[in-house]
Amino acid sequence: MTLVNVGSINIDRVYAVAHIPAPGETIPARGLEEGLGGKGANQSIAAARAGGQVRHVGAVGPDGGWAAGRLAEEGVDVGHVVTLERPTGHAVIALDERGENAIIIHAGANGAVPAAAVREGLQGLGSGDRLILQNEINANEIAAREARRRGMEIVYSAAPFVAEDAARMLPLVDVVVMNEIEAAQLSAHLGTPLEALPVRAVLMTKGAKGAVWIEAARRIEVPAWPAPRVVDTTGAGDCFTGWLAGALDRGCTLEAALTEAAAAAALKVSRKGAAAGIPTREEVTAFMRTAKRS
Ligand code: RIB
Repeated sequence: MTLVNVGSINIDRVYAVAHIPAPGETIPARGLEEGLGGKGANQSIAAARAGGQVRHVGAVGPDGGWAAGRLAEEGVDVGHVVTLERPTGHAVIALDERGENAIIIHAGANGAVPAAAVREGLQGLGSGDRLILQNEINANEIAAREARRRGMEIVYSAAPFVAEDAARMLPLVDVVVMNEIEAAQLSAHLGTPLEALPVRAVLMTKGAKGAVWIEAARRIEVPAWPAPRVVDTTGAGDCFTGWLAGALDRGCTLEAALTEAAAAAALKVSRKGAAAGIPTREEVTAFMRTAKRS
């Protein structure tokens, strides 16, 4: 099976701050770190670390070769990451002392992923293969339509969340992943309970409260794992979704994949960096042996 992620690649510039600035407020940063991020790249790394065979389709600028290189070091196939004549996408992240963040993203190359790269990236795939998407690139609809035509399963993270965009994607995907706030907003926007959204399944992540998988025939409550400590919540949701897709690709049952994904996300928040904070499979396995779930 192949897992294709048509997704964003960002350079994350993380500013350590005492608190997230209020409107009109100027505050000094206590530190600046730069690293790989982007919901797509984060998910690809999590999926690869979970044991999936991952192909990333996306775009960087001339300044982003190192980012594609980082993905390749993780075993991700980057043969369909194209280099465009515009800067790599980036994120300005304010990270406060409690590990909470506020993020501004600039799409850069993520906003110009060529349709041809997407079609080529999906070539030869079909039933049994899986596509994962987020909301940070321009090519979601093209990718979803092409994957659907091929009979692939499509997992869509509706983040960053815009109700109209998510509503438009629903008929094109099998599984939609949202946090509690996004799920409530989408439900209100469509006037439909989560159980009746036009998708096969909804995965709602609930941070420290775990997650729930909602599908016609089954509802799986996923208890949370206790985070050893909270230093950086950036990318925890990406880690959850990517790990889930990777573990499924490796052959895990849905229940086992959800359990592992929750453990990986709990470990992620205890480490700095969106991509850099994603744990390895050995770390997740060891954590699951020793930690006590709520
Ligand atoms: O979900 C976290 C990610 O959101 C960061 O890595 C940042 O790049 C933004 O895309």
